[in-house]
Amino acid sequence: MSKTVSGFSKLNKIEKIDWLISNFFNNDEKVAKCLAQYWNSNKILQDLHDDFIENTISNFYMPFAIAPNFVINGKDYTIPMTIEESSVVAAASLVAKFWSTRGGFKATVISTVKIGQVHFMFEGNKIALQNYFSSKKEGLFKVTEEITKNMKKRGGGILDIELRDKTAELNNYYQLHVTFETADSMGANFINSCLEAIANEFENEGIQIVMSILSNYVPDCLVRAEVSCKVNELYAENSALFAQKFVQAVQIANAEPHRAVTHNKGIMNGVDAVVLATGNDFRAIEAGAHAYAAKDGQYKSLTNATIENGIFKFWIEVPLALGTVGGLTKLHPLSKLSLQLLGNPSAKELMEIIAVAGLAQNFAALRALTTTGIQKGHMKMHLTNIIKQLGATESEKQFLINYFENKTVTHNAVVEAYNKLVGDK
Ligand code: MEV
Repeated sequence: MSKTVSGFSKLNKIEKIDWLISNFFNNDEKVAKCLAQYWNSNKILQDLHDDFIENTISNFYMPFAIAPNFVINGKDYTIPMTIEESSVVAAASLVAKFWSTRGGFKATVISTVKIGQVHFMFEGNKIALQNYFSSKKEGLFKVTEEITKNMKKRGGGILDIELRDKTAELNNYYQLHVTFETADSMGANFINSCLEAIANEFENEGIQIVMSILSNYVPDCLVRAEVSCKVNELYAENSALFAQKFVQAVQIANAEPHRAVTHNKGIMNGVDAVVLATGNDFRAIEAGAHAYAAKDGQYKSLTNATIENGIFKFWIEVPLALGTVGGLTKLHPLSKLSLQLLGNPSAKELMEIIAVAGLAQNFAALRALTTTGIQKGHMKMHLTNIIKQLGATESEKQFLINYFENKTVTHNAVVEAYNKLVGDK
């Protein structure tokens, strides 16, 4: 039986679910109930979520947590995090507390330039093209005036439009490389609207516009966050060895892409969680961060660490194109609340906070990896998750946590211990 359908988006929610369960779930009403149990009883709120995307049939919950005790540039923050991975928030909170007693995190925005490109093909004379561009340049700014009016009031706008010859990479390929300042907005719609207006104005018989779109590679929208302390204040036991192994762990990620990817994944655990909680676009952030990690021709660590004159220093530099206005930021009630919790930061301040969240997460991962190993903490959370799935009571839970204190946690071992416990009762 064919499962294709036409006019699907016009069906209402119930009709969509009916179609789904009859085509994929053997008309199992339990599936409809499972979807319906996540609907919000507040109609206004549910309508809001329905309208974020097309064909919404339910809400997919993710945990929303807070990590307190972050000190960034001398200011206290409690950071909102949306993430499903069990150990991330616990790690962030521990590391926040740890560094709060060692001077806190220092963060600075290095630059905030965003990029968009009009990609086009041109077969004619290069000098003629350059002359055409020069004669048009002022007009290209002019056609965007209506779009840039409000952005200019907020200190943003188009910074420059450049003609770039890309014919060495691809025959007849050129681009208008446009740089933007988008103030407190991420600016995707603004940039794309400007680019399309520019492309329309620039196009002529010899110029074939292929596409106009922002770039998520934003190496000049860059933030740096850092922690430092005396080596002997770093770790309770053998601090010098700990510092040395920590720095070596970062060096390994810089030397070896397999490790670098996992190392950076750990950083993105922290970054993405705050990006999501604040209603920002985590796919854009991910793409841009990983491209930046490969900027030297090899995929490397986004963080670095040194020991100099008895001082341990650990820092991150990462491009983050974020917004604190526009998009989902104020539309999603929890994103709005997250931003309120952070004191309604500017986009620049949010860049600093999120870079810190990434650095903290990397610190937690490397500290665990170079000392106890990562599984100790992970397995503790894993154990509580399994216990929960088994429906254990509070006293059974405590018994199992004590029982596994010095034993290896596997799903089978926990189930067996639980069965024995309830069987024995
Ligand atoms: C797990 O989500 C993240 C880590 O693998 C990061 C790392 O290895 O650095 C623990």
